[in-house]
Amino acid sequence: MLGAKYKELLKRASDARRRAYAPYSHYRVGAALLTAAGKVYTGCNVETSSYGLTICAERTAVFKAISEGERSFRAIAIAADDPDFTPPCGACRQVLIDLAGNIDVILVNSKGRTRVEQLKDLLPFAFDKKHLQTARRTKK
Ligand code: THU
Repeated sequence: MLGAKYKELLKRASDARRRAYAPYSHYRVGAALLTAAGKVYTGCNVETSSYGLTICAERTAVFKAISEGERSFRAIAIAADDPDFTPPCGACRQVLIDLAGNIDVILVNSKGRTRVEQLKDLLPFAFDKKHLQTARRTKK
């Protein structure tokens, strides 16, 4: 069973999905990122006519939060209009583990079913900033 805070987070992700700009794929995604202090930053996917420059909902949310000075996070909720769960894409997993750490990933499908995963289980053996620090220490 999801707690009240995670339920609210899912609602915020579903609301954010309505603001998705997806005229090419028509696949609309919303995300809501919860900080350690309890604040929520939302995001949606934003597509451009140069398709590869599209940004996913999850990265929109985390970049918004980081750019507002946030550094500590608890969870991200992801909502898509899809009967299957929409897991974060590989690029978003990498960005999230790097900037938000091992947060809970809460998924909701179009039937209202929910599923919670830990980010480290979605991206095992991840590259992150500690690898850069090791390289710097051992540099001649
Ligand atoms: N998309 C997301 O926003 N998040 C995901 O986790 C998967 C994919 C978006 C990117 C693109 O606008 C559309 O979904 C289809 O790939």
